[in-house]
Amino acid sequence: MGDRLSLDGSRVLVTGGAGFIGSNFVRAFLARFPDSHMVVLDALTYAGRQENLEGLPRRSLTFVHGDIRDPQAVAGAMDGCDLALNFAAESHVDRSIESPGEFIQTDVYGVFVLCEEARRRNLRRFLQVSTDEVYGEVMEGHATETWPLMPRSPYAASKAGGDRLAYAYFATYGLPVVVTRCANNYGPRQYPEKLVPLFVTNAIGSTGATGSTWTTIATP
Ligand SMILES: NC(=O)c1ccc[n+]([C@@H]2O[C@H](COP(=O)([O-])OP(=O)(O)OC[C@H]3O[C@@H](n4cnc5c(N)ncnc54)[C@H](O)[C@@H]3O)[C@@H](O)[C@H]2O)c1
Repeated sequence: MGDRLSLDGSRVLVTGGAGFIGSNFVRAFLARFPDSHMVVLDALTYAGRQENLEGLPRRSLTFVHGDIRDPQAVAGAMDGCDLALNFAAESHVDRSIESPGEFIQTDVYGVFVLCEEARRRNLRRFLQVSTDEVYGEVMEGHATETWPLMPRSPYAASKAGGDRLAYAYFATYGLPVVVTRCANNYGPRQYPEKLVPLFVTNAIGSTGATGSTWTTIATP
């Protein structure tokens, strides 16, 4: 991807922007590019909260309550956007073992809906947030980008599907796609079912909390 995007004054679609990483991204982006406008499309599942976006300037943010699996909602939200970043996902490994269907729907089919709309509009960039879980277990050393994909849970497999589908839109249609595969994140506004916030909420409460209540943990 040779050309550098000018982000100042851009209109950016952030799907899943009411979740943990998405909401932190929206805050960081607006702090750096205050003249940009963020459109957040989020289905507000158990993991998403509009409160995660509280305090941001109203002129800089449009919130759309909708689903990335819904082509009409995606088309409306993407209207006029220069770039789109997809943070929306079913994101919890244990839940994917209990009920994998939602993961396939959102993490694979949802990416298809987004890529189709991005292609139709000639979007300037589409970023698919993937995960290092696509590599499976790395027993020694560390994985590189060319490491074989060996997902081991329905979550990881569905993210690998979305990851490769986004790549296929680049290879087949020339859609300017970027795929990232970050490792575990923790911090403010994270739903406390994940490892670090769960331990912290348990430690704060000393009550054996089940991870069903929200907490805000100071940035490390
Ligand atoms: N948290 C991590 O450590 C980590 C690590 C690697 C990759 N990732 C990836 O980063 C992204 C964000 O992770 P997170 O921890 O912020 O997740 P999260 O569960 O906190 O947030 C996901 C957001 O997506 C929304 N959402 C879910 N399904 C949707 C749908 N069908 N349509 C629209 N919105 C929907 C939810 O309401 C929520 O706001 C995910 O794609 C995840 O796979 C996360």
